[in-house]
Amino acid sequence: MKHFISAEQLTHPQVEDFFIAADEFRRLDHLSLQSRRELAGRHIGRQLISLFYEPSTRTRLSFELAATKIGVGVVSTENAREFSSAAKGETIEDTVRNLAEYNANILIMRHHETGAAERAVAVAPDHMTIINAGDGKGEHPTQALLDAYTIYCHTGSLDSNTIVLGGDLRQGRTARSLAKLLSTYDGNHFTFVSAPGFEMADDIKHYLDEHTTTWTETNDVHAAVHDASVVYWTRLQKERLGEGDSVKQDQQFVIDNSVLQSMRKDAIIMHPLPRVDEIAREVDDDPRAHYFHQAGNGMYIRMALLDYFFSAK
Ligand code: NCD
Repeated sequence: MKHFISAEQLTHPQVEDFFIAADEFRRLDHLSLQSRRELAGRHIGRQLISLFYEPSTRTRLSFELAATKIGVGVVSTENAREFSSAAKGETIEDTVRNLAEYNANILIMRHHETGAAERAVAVAPDHMTIINAGDGKGEHPTQALLDAYTIYCHTGSLDSNTIVLGGDLRQGRTARSLAKLLSTYDGNHFTFVSAPGFEMADDIKHYLDEHTTTWTETNDVHAAVHDASVVYWTRLQKERLGEGDSVKQDQQFVIDNSVLQSMRKDAIIMHPLPRVDEIAREVDDDPRAHYFHQAGNGMYIRMALLDYFFSAK
C-alpha cells in the first residue's frame, strides 16, 4: 500500500498485521519508561506533516502522538481551511506539491471535500505517502481500521457479527468505511437505523450486495439492537447539512437506558466520537459502552500504520 485513501485497500493479512502491531505497541507503551524511550528512537530522522482543514480532536492528536511515540517529527496545521493558504485561494494540488518539496515522507490530510485525498494522491511525488484522515462525506479509512480492531478485541473475530449502524449514515464517513471493511469478511449482517433522509447511501448498499453481505433498514431501534453484537452510533453531521435540510429532534435516535434494556448483555456500543446527544450520558457507565476505549485503540492502530509506512521508506 503506497497511500491509504479508502478502506477498500485493506487486505485481510494486512489488517491482521496491523492488529498484531497495535497490540505490541500498546504493550511496549505500557511496559516501562525504558521501553518508551526505545520506541521513541525507532524512526528518528523521519517527519510527517498533518494538514487538517476540518475540526478534529481524536484523529489529529492520536496520529500526532502516535508519530511522536515512535520518534517521528511532526509539523501540523489544525485549521488549514482558515490558517493555511487555502484561505487565500490555493488549491489542494499546489499545497501538496509544495509540501512535498520539504521532503517529509507522510502527509496526513483531513478535508471537507469528498475526494480531496485522491486529488492529493494524483500530484504526490514518489517519496510522499498520503493518508486520508477523512474526506467530506467520503471515507475515514483509519477510523474503520481502529473500529474493526475494537470489534476484534471484543468479539475475537471480524466474521459473523451483527452490526447496527445508526445515526446520520448519509453524511457520516466513518460508518461508510466500516461497512466497506467488514463486508469483505464472512457472515456479517448490517442493520441501518436512521431518520428519514439520513439513510445509508446506495453506493455502500451496492458494495455490501457485491460482497454478499446482508443488510436491512429499520427505524425500530429496540428491534434493531436486540440481536446485535455491535451497536455503532453516530452523530448528526450538522456541518454537512445542505440548505433546506433539517432533522427534527424527535426524529433522532438516541441510545439511552431503555435501549440498553433491549440489547444483548455481551454487545458493545461504539461511536467514533464526538458524541453530542445521540448517546445519553447515563449509558457511559454501562460495561457495554466502549466508545472511549475505542478512541484509545485509535492511537495504537495509528502507531501500527505509521510504523508500516515509515518502515517501507
Ligand atoms: C468522525 C469524523 O471526523 O468523521 N470523527 C472522528 O474522526 N473520530 C466522526 C464525526 O465527526 O462525527
